[in-house]
Parts: sequence; structure tokens; C-alpha cells
Amino acid sequence: MGAGIIEVFARSGRVVQAVETSESAIRAGHRRVESSLGRAVSGGKLSTTEAESILDRVSFATELESLADCEVIVEAATEDPELKTDLFTRLDKIVTSETAILSTNTSSIPIIQIARATVRPEMVVGLHFFSPVPVMPLVEIVRSLMTSDSVVRRCKDLVTVEMNKEFIVAEDRAGFVVNILLVPYLLSAVRLFEAGHASAADIDKGMRLGAGHPVGPLAVLDYIGIDTLAKAADVLYSEYRDPSFSVPQLLRRMIDAGHTGQKSGRGFFEYGAT
Ligand SMILES: NC(=O)c1ccc[n+]([C@@H]2O[C@H](COP(=O)([O-])OP(=O)(O)OC[C@H]3O[C@@H](n4cnc5c(N)ncnc54)[C@H](O)[C@@H]3O)[C@@H](O)[C@H]2O)c1
Repeated sequence: MGAGIIEVFARSGRVVQAVETSESAIRAGHRRVESSLGRAVSGGKLSTTEAESILDRVSFATELESLADCEVIVEAATEDPELKTDLFTRLDKIVTSETAILSTNTSSIPIIQIARATVRPEMVVGLHFFSPVPVMPLVEIVRSLMTSDSVVRRCKDLVTVEMNKEFIVAEDRAGFVVNILLVPYLLSAVRLFEAGHASAADIDKGMRLGAGHPVGPLAVLDYIGIDTLAKAADVLYSEYRDPSFSVPQLLRRMIDAGHTGQKSGRGFFEYGAT
């Protein structure tokens, strides 16, 4: 998600400072942005010169301190409440501008929990992008009980004017709008597969050809990342205690096996080198 978010900000003309955890993660992130831009060039959507200048606007670092002068922060780290609150506590001390927007791409963690890790909760908001970020037109803007109106207004402009995307505004409930509906659907597909009801290929074919979905649920899960989806579902389950959010055992075993979807080369389906 981080690579996609970096790309859309750089494409909108902004200078982007990205932070990753290690030099190897930086290389992987850089490669992702570069190959996505390469695909846009091959598809005739960007010229080579445009792609080069977009990439030139992006710098990577491993120190959070490199974000000190940023006006818009988008956190897209692993879906872990403790990790995110720790990041926001640190960002709060590092980011100097009082008008800086501190946003999170969390799929399921209540924004207020993250906002309360700072002394400026009014500046904290959810900007929930969808994968693949350069292609998917929607961003959910999630306001906590403390997010200021001006931050929400600025986010609307950021999404529509700068990125040429669409937004919906959601209240601060775990899962917002889209994941509350999407996660039980994806988990139901896993339960069907786990019960031996049909093959993965047939479950997906059923939803593609029978329900008009462009991609079947198990391929969507592989694309999102099985570990990422399981973390989001766990947060939703702990908020609502609704069994439709409980993670099937098969998903836990797939995570143990490292079969986390496209990013690992294997999930419900197999993929070539990533
Ligand atoms: N995968 C999706 O389709 C999707 C869609 C919308 C939102 N999200 C949300 O976006 C976030 C990231 O999801 P993902 O699927 O890209 O996860 P991922 O696990 O694939 O990637 C997480 C990245 O965060 C980096 N990271 C971890 N700790 C960090 C830290 N302290 N500082 C900087 N970087 C750190 C990791 O190195 C890794 O590159 C999650 O909050 C997730 O819920 C994911």
C-alpha cells in the first residue's frame, strides 16, 4: 500500500519523503513504485519523461525524523494497533508544522485510538486507500470524534483536486464502510473453500461469472495479503464480536506457512516471482 500511496502523491506533483524500516525494504518499495510506473508507461498512460520526473520527486529514508517538514503524513505500516500508536507518538514529536495532517491508512483500527497517541488529535484523520492505489478511484476519509472540520475539508481537496480520485466520508467505526461489508464476504469464501464446498478456482469463477465481480474473493484476498486481511478481521471481531468477522483456521495456518498471497508468491493461488 505504501508504494501505491507514494506513487499517487508523487503523480499529483507533490515531493514525497518515504520511510521504511530497512535498506532492503527501501529497495523493495523503490522497485514497486518503479515497476508500477513502468506499467503505466507501457500502457501508454505516462511518458517515460513523466515517469522519471515522478520517481525523481520520491526519496526514501529509514529515519522517521526525515518527515519533520512534511505537511501531509500518510502512515501505511503493518496493521498493528500498538505499532501504529507508537509511530504516531513519535511522529507527534517529530513533525514541526502545526498545520500538518497526520493520517493513517489503517483498514480497521479506530482513528481515535491512534489520534489519542498525539497531543494534536484534531489533526489526525483516516485516509483509507484501496489496492492497487494508482488504479482504485476511492479514498475513505474517516473522521474521529476529535478530527477538525478543516482537516476533513483539506483531505477532500487532496483526494479530488490533487489526486483526481473520489471520496466517501465515514464515521470512526472499525472497518468504516467498505471493509465492514467486504471482510465478511471474503471470509465466507474462505469458509466455503475450507469446508471443501468447491475449489478455489470455482468459488472465484462463480462470483466473477455469476455475480459480475471483476475479481473473485480468493484472488482479492491474495491481492490484499492474507496476513493483512486477518489482522483487519481480528480488529473488527474485537470491536463487534460478530462471528462473521472471525478468522477461519485455514487463514491462520496459511500465515504460519508464509502463504500470504501474491506478495509471497502463494496464497489460494500460485504466482510467479514477486
Ligand atoms: N493491503 C490492502 O489491500 C490494504 C488496503 C487498504 C489499507 N491497508 C492498510 O495499509 C496498511 C499497510 O498494509 P499493507 O498491506 O501494505 O501491509 P504490508 O504488511 O504488506 O506492508 C507494511 C509495510 O510497513 C512497513 N513497516 C512496518 N513497520 C514500520 C515502521 N515502524 N515504519 C515504517 N514502515 C514500517 C513494512 O516494512 C512493510 O513494508 C495497513 O494498515 C493496512 O490495513 C491495506
